[in-house]
Amino acid sequence: MSRFSFIADKDEYRFFSKDCLDAEESFRKSFDSCVKLVRTAVDAAVKWVYATDKNLSATSDNLFDLIADKNFQRTFGKDLADKLHYCRTAGNQAIHNEREFTADEAARCLQNLFEFVCTIDKLYGKNPPRETPASSELLQTQLCGLKLNTPIFAASGTFGFGEEFADFVDLKRLGGVMVKCTTLKPRRGNDGVRIAETPSGMLNCIGLENPGVEKFLSDTLPRIKDRMTVIVNISGSSVEDYAALAKLLDVDGVAAIELNISCPNVKDGGIIFGTDERAAASVTSAAKRSTSKPVIVKLSPNVTDITKIAKAVESAGADALSLINTLMGMEINIDTWRPTLGNVTGGLSGGAIKPVALRMVWQTAQVVNVPIIGMGGIRSARDAIEFLLAGAMAVAVGTANFADPSITMTIADDLSTYLRRRGLKNVSELVGKLKT
Ligand SMILES: Cc1cc2nc3c(=O)[nH]c(=O)nc-3n(C[C@H](O)[C@H](O)[C@H](O)COP(=O)(O)O)c2cc1C
Repeated sequence: MSRFSFIADKDEYRFFSKDCLDAEESFRKSFDSCVKLVRTAVDAAVKWVYATDKNLSATSDNLFDLIADKNFQRTFGKDLADKLHYCRTAGNQAIHNEREFTADEAARCLQNLFEFVCTIDKLYGKNPPRETPASSELLQTQLCGLKLNTPIFAASGTFGFGEEFADFVDLKRLGGVMVKCTTLKPRRGNDGVRIAETPSGMLNCIGLENPGVEKFLSDTLPRIKDRMTVIVNISGSSVEDYAALAKLLDVDGVAAIELNISCPNVKDGGIIFGTDERAAASVTSAAKRSTSKPVIVKLSPNVTDITKIAKAVESAGADALSLINTLMGMEINIDTWRPTLGNVTGGLSGGAIKPVALRMVWQTAQVVNVPIIGMGGIRSARDAIEFLLAGAMAVAVGTANFADPSITMTIADDLSTYLRRRGLKNVSELVGKLKT
C-alpha cells in the first residue's frame, strides 16, 4: 500500500498526487528514475503551493529560487526546504547521469517528498492525513534522564565544539554533541604527524589538544550551550584531576560529563584508568561524587575483556557507558623506515573498527543495566541500526563526520525511513532486539 494514498483521491492535490505515486512506484524498478521522479513531484507540489498560498509570491521561475524564498522557508521551515533542495539537486544529477543513486538515497528523497506532502496537507488540506508518527516522534528517546531528539550523538574529538558544524547539521536534532576533550590545563597536543589515512579508517594521535577547562567555561560554553545538548568529554592523569574537572563542569549548560578513560595517544590520557577495573571504578566514583550531572564512562577497546571494566564502572555509579574509543595501531613509512605518526602509535577509528565495536557493545549489553552509547565506524543508518539491535540505546558518529559533515542528519533521516517501513513507532523498539 502506498504511503501517498492519502492524497491519491483528493481532488485538490491532483496537480501533484500522480507524480508522487509514480515516484514511489518507480523505487522498485530503478533508484535513479525514482530520484528523477521525486524531483518532478517536488516541482509540481512547489508550484501548487505558490498557486494556492496567497502569502507567497513567485519572484522567479527557477524552482531552486522558489524553495530558497524567505516566505516559503518561513511557511515550511528551513529544515524541510533543505530537504527539498536535496531532492532537486539529486534529481538533476540523475537526469544528467552524473552519478548512480543507492536505495538509501532514493528512499531519502521519497521520505523528503512525503514530509513535504504531509506538511502541505496539514497547512492547506481539508482532511488532514491519518497521523503516521512524525520523524521527530519516531526518534525521540531518553538516556539517563536526558530527553534526546534523536539517539544520534557526535563523538568527541571529531566534531570540534559542535558550532563548526552548524552550517551542515541541525545541532538540536542531535542527541548531543560530545565536545572535544577538556583537561585541567591547556594542551598543545602531540608533535609531528597526527593523522594518517588507513584502509577504511584513520589513525590519529592528536594528543588531547584543547584550550583547558577554564577557557572552555569562560569562552566556549556560553557560546554553545543554547545551541545543542553539550556533553563534555574530560581527561586527566589522576583521580583528583577527573574529580576537579567534574566539579568545575557542574554548571548550567553542561548536560552530562563523559569520562575519557581510554585515550591511547598520550601517556596521561586516562588509558591507565580504562584498562584496570579498580582504577576505572575509582575514577568513576570520584567523578560521581563531584557532580550532579549524569556521568558517562567511555571505555577502551584495548583490553582483553571489556565487560569486566564495564561492570566495574557500573558498580561505581556510572550513569551510562560509551564505547568504543580507538584501537591502538601504527603505520610505518618504508622509505624512511620511520613511523608515519609523530607519536609512533595512534588510535584507529572509522569503518575498519565497526565489527570490533559492535561485538564489544553486544557483549557489554549482556552484562550491564545502564544505557550504552555505541560508537566505532558508524557511517550509515544501517550501521546505527546494527548497534541498536546489539543493545546500544544511542549511537555516536565520529570519523564519518570528516568525510561528510552532514552524515548525522542523513543517518537520522534514513533511520526514520527504516522505522516507518518496518511499522515501528519509536526507535527504542530496536534496542537489544538482536535474535541469536
Ligand atoms: C581525530 C580524533 C580525535 C578524537 N578525540 C577524542 C577525544 O578527545 N576524546 C575521546 O573520548 N575520544 C576521542 N576520539 C575517539 C572518538 O570519539 C570515537 O570514540 C572513535 O573514533 C570511534 O568512533 P568512529 O570510528 O566513529 O570515529 C577521537 C577520534 C578521532 C578520530
